[in-house]
Amino acid sequence: MEQPSPVPDTPYHRLGGAPVFEAIANRFYDLMDSDPAYAELRAMHAADLTPMRASLPKFLAGWAGGPRDWFEANPGRCMMSLHAPFTIEALTANQWADAMERAITDVAPEPAEIATSMREVLGRLARGMGR
Ligand code: HEM
Repeated sequence: MEQPSPVPDTPYHRLGGAPVFEAIANRFYDLMDSDPAYAELRAMHAADLTPMRASLPKFLAGWAGGPRDWFEANPGRCMMSLHAPFTIEALTANQWADAMERAITDVAPEPAEIATSMREVLGRLARGMGR
């Protein structure tokens, strides 16, 4: 009989769980904050990125099959309602996608198949939000 896997088979767990998702979000906001290639995206965000550094990894955790604390703390909130206050142009959508792809490559390149899927899915999701 097959032994139960000690690590749940979700992208969240296979990539390394909370510390890895926190590292991805921190790298993403470090890039956004420091690289002029993301100036327009940076300008849309609050001066203090501390709340987003805490929030984004929790959102991504639930989205990738991990703990759903963010969704439980924010009932009814979704990608559409979160971003309804903003006009997202193709330029800033591309900046988001590019910074996230780089962040994943920089801090969570393994397992390669999971990192690749995360880059592809998040990149497509973000680019699809631009107009
Ligand atoms: C497509 C380009 C995107 C742009 C321009 C954008 C922009 C923003 C901005 C300006 C905020 C408010 C932040 C602040 O007040 O400092 C925000 C919030 C948020 N964004 Fe995005 N976003 C994009 C894509 C995404 C994607 C693809 C995800 C997740 C997969 C995401 C997840 C979030 C979350 C979870 C919050 C709110 C967190 C909270 O309030 O708890 N965003 N976004």
